[in-house]
Amino acid sequence: MPIFVINFKSYEEALGEKGKILAEHAKKISAKLGVNIVIAPAFTDIRFLSGIIPVIAQHIDSVEPGAHTGSITAESVKTAGAIGTLINHSEMKLNLEDVSKCIARAKKNDLMTICCADSPENAAGIAKLNPDYVLIEPPELIGSKNSVSKTKPEVIKKTVDLVRLSNPQVGVICGAGVATGEDSRIAKQLGAIGIAVASAIIKSKNPERVIEDVAAGLV
Ligand code: G3P
Repeated sequence: MPIFVINFKSYEEALGEKGKILAEHAKKISAKLGVNIVIAPAFTDIRFLSGIIPVIAQHIDSVEPGAHTGSITAESVKTAGAIGTLINHSEMKLNLEDVSKCIARAKKNDLMTICCADSPENAAGIAKLNPDYVLIEPPELIGSKNSVSKTKPEVIKKTVDLVRLSNPQVGVICGAGVATGEDSRIAKQLGAIGIAVASAIIKSKNPERVIEDVAAGLV
């Protein structure tokens, strides 16, 4: 089943009740089109939204539970209702040792792991650490109007090829600038199993329509 990640980041338009409306749109479209949609809201909204649609954390820290003020442990997001986590997003970079520790900590808590990479080579290296998915996002296209699918399709293709060689168990998701069904269709044709979107949905005047369009391209 294709996976569609909607990352709420720290956008004000996706906080609290506004995030709930987005989650409800996503739930409706997920059921209608048979696409596995997961949302990554603010940490503080994980519990609030996890009863509506599957929720993943935007990040976890590699620390064990204990005396670490301000840290986000795998246990804390699991307890709040998350089913998985992003790790190493371009906006929350980790070194490779911490990526590896976070994957282990997430797995210990039965959390699905979506590990971000900024290049095909980086994705192939991260795939060796056995996450469930790698999410390839060219950093320069994140938040832009230029989708990875149309601007840099070769990055998706190369990531799919390198990850297949590195660890065929790992699915490839792609993101950055994705905004339309055409973008997700191209990504799927290039071998991606899913897509990640933030600004095109969160900043839209009609987020429901964008969610449906992007999801339809994955079917
Ligand atoms: O995690 C997905 C995100 O980084 C993509 O952002 O705004 O380019 O859709 P955006």
